[in-house]
Amino acid sequence: MAGLDSRSQQLYRRARQVIPGGVNSPVRNYSPYPLFVGSAKGSKFKTVDSQEYLDYCMAYGALIDGHANAEIIEAVEQALERGSIYGQPTEIEVELAELIASLMPSMEMVRLVNSGTEATMHAIRLARAFSGKKKVLKFEGGFHGSHDSVLVKAGSGATLLGSPSSEGVSSEVAKNTLVSRFNDEKVAGKIIRDHSSELAAVIVEPVLGNIGPVLPNPGFLETLRKITEENEVLLIFDEVITGFRLSIGGAQEYYKIRPDLTILGKILGGGLPLSAFGGRRDILEKLAPLGPVYQAGTYSGNPVSVSAALATLESLRKRGGQVYSRLERMGDEMRHGMSDHLESARVTAQVNGVASMFQLFFTDRPVTDYHSAKSADMRKYEKYFHSLLASRIFVPPSQFETCFLSTAHNEDELEATLGAIGAAVKTLSR
Ligand SMILES: Cc1ncc(COP(=O)(O)O)c(C=O)c1O
Repeated sequence: MAGLDSRSQQLYRRARQVIPGGVNSPVRNYSPYPLFVGSAKGSKFKTVDSQEYLDYCMAYGALIDGHANAEIIEAVEQALERGSIYGQPTEIEVELAELIASLMPSMEMVRLVNSGTEATMHAIRLARAFSGKKKVLKFEGGFHGSHDSVLVKAGSGATLLGSPSSEGVSSEVAKNTLVSRFNDEKVAGKIIRDHSSELAAVIVEPVLGNIGPVLPNPGFLETLRKITEENEVLLIFDEVITGFRLSIGGAQEYYKIRPDLTILGKILGGGLPLSAFGGRRDILEKLAPLGPVYQAGTYSGNPVSVSAALATLESLRKRGGQVYSRLERMGDEMRHGMSDHLESARVTAQVNGVASMFQLFFTDRPVTDYHSAKSADMRKYEKYFHSLLASRIFVPPSQFETCFLSTAHNEDELEATLGAIGAAVKTLSR
């Protein structure tokens, strides 16, 4: 960690005067002060104090090919020379929509927006308009951005109706969001059946990524697909994290489920702000200017982000399955290595993950949903985080986030990281 009067610390002090909490997204704040980054390349970033850290946060999963990827830089530079925004359609938007549709066949039509929050908000509005119903069902621990309909947690007691998880979200809005338990087919199935006449959609992260990675039990997603279909409720896969991460066709390809609507973000933009929602043609045709559902955005589909997206997806497609099999192998190595270290240090913890996603939870319960994730000892995680930081390894500061590998990480780095993890967990067994 940088010294007491490091530039990071000075900047943090300045930032807090003009930026609430000193950060532009709350997860970036951690104790005693966040590192301020000056530059990044490949698997590493350099702080404003010129200290280099190996990065397993990767902008919360946005960077599958590491920082400052040469192909993306070239595409962005060329795009900028041609003008960064026109407020008119471009050829590359069409190419990108075609490419997305070819990689994810459930996305017959696609609309580009700027953030995952925007995309889920519009997809939910669209689902409501298409179905003529107003409620949505989400799962505890699932995160779908920071707009009102999804900043909702399970209501108290036996009530299924959601209650606001942030002040400023009205209870009237929250009541239209039902909340169920991830991996509990019975409860979710009953809610969907009981509320089918008023339920527009079920929105789910196929792998929960915002509570640490929590995998779907075999059959869970299949059951959701079956019951939503039988009850004329739309199924929305929020693939902001899993899209292009589990496979080039996302979780829907990985688990072989065809949702009605899909949300993409993070990797899609190749490090620039870009998100998308899309899906069945008959649903998407309800959007303005074709249909009655309003949705718009000045920067939507801007040519710089679209160029970065095209460079990212084309490169992933060209390299084919090789990227994903390598990432999966590296992910396995990390998960097994972590489990071995935990065992030899006699520290009880769970290691979760799939493909290039991983995280450990200091709990004796298998982590399969929100409640088991929340049983983790956060103080232990904080100690673990700071031990790794001292070894110049950056993992997400919160227990309830996922670590990500990129193609820029190499074997030597993985080995060094496992060594540091081994040392970090040893300090926890005392
Ligand atoms: C699954 C999921 N959906 C939606 C969002 C919101 O995306 P954004 O931060 O681009 O608004 C996130 C962000 O972490 C996410 O992980």
